[in-house]
Amino acid sequence: MPNDPDGAVTWAEAVAAAAKRLAAAGVASPRVDAELLAAHVSGLRRARLLVADGPDAARRAEFDALVARRATREPLQHLTGSAAFRYGELAVGPGVFVPRPETELLVDWALAHLPEGGTVIDACSGSGAVAYSIATERPDARVWAVEVDPDAFEWLESNLEGTGAVPVLADAVASGTLAELDGQVDLVTANPPYVPFEIEVAPEVDFDPSGAVYAAEAGLAVIQPLAVRAANWLRPGGWFGFEHDDTHGTVAPEILRVSGFTDAEDHDDLAGRPRFATGRLGLLP
Ligand SMILES: C[S@@+](CC[C@H](N)C(=O)[O-])C[C@H]1O[C@@H](n2cnc3c(N)ncnc32)[C@H](O)[C@@H]1O
Repeated sequence: MPNDPDGAVTWAEAVAAAAKRLAAAGVASPRVDAELLAAHVSGLRRARLLVADGPDAARRAEFDALVARRATREPLQHLTGSAAFRYGELAVGPGVFVPRPETELLVDWALAHLPEGGTVIDACSGSGAVAYSIATERPDARVWAVEVDPDAFEWLESNLEGTGAVPVLADAVASGTLAELDGQVDLVTANPPYVPFEIEVAPEVDFDPSGAVYAAEAGLAVIQPLAVRAANWLRPGGWFGFEHDDTHGTVAPEILRVSGFTDAEDHDDLAGRPRFATGRLGLLP
């Protein structure tokens, strides 16, 4: 084949060569990423790639170009334009944070604490992963999604279209934001920026907007005022759950306690690292 630098003829061979290249570049899941890129280019399901004919020259060139970009550690989701999250697919790309699988645990917790017909505010909504999941998995809920970055907000608006969730372009910690809901909300969720500036991150994280990832004050600059804002939004007995850095396993529940929450608890992710904290707004005496 003329454009066949590694001698691969079938999709299976092209994927094997790409997986080798991605492994050498330090990609954490080289085989899966190679298969997903091949599925994206070919339009085939991953399982079909093993038995499919080889790509034509144009598709092979497209695949090679995407593999080359992935080898520079550009996130897979930017290359395919979408991120799988729970039962949905979110459109993502430059300007918006790529949703991470560990955030699905926060959604599990939220769904278990959402009363029938409940009202939810998802603060720091980004692509809308959390708000989208709650709105589509619990159509009885009324969901608002608050995002401050206008670029991310464009992705949020389009991802939430048709879900019934309401996108709001605003600073979630400002006292006027959704003030009309003060004292009435059943559940507040947030995956805010929380990485302390000094922490070293994987190269893929450099493609996320820095305002989505990092926060001053050792990673707590958004979390602290957000706990206060959440306490104002919630009705007594309502719940707040937020994701945090794995160095915040002790301080996160403490922030909840000093902000008026009871039942403050921290939860690990599937790797056993402290990942999100939850609490219930104290009931009125
Ligand atoms: C870690 S990303 C999470 C996005 C999404 N919730 C998710 O889990 O994939 C944090 C998001 O919060 C937004 N953000 C940061 N500070 C904010 C604030 N004060 N009010 C609203 N959104 C904020 C960022 O622009 C970014 O989109």
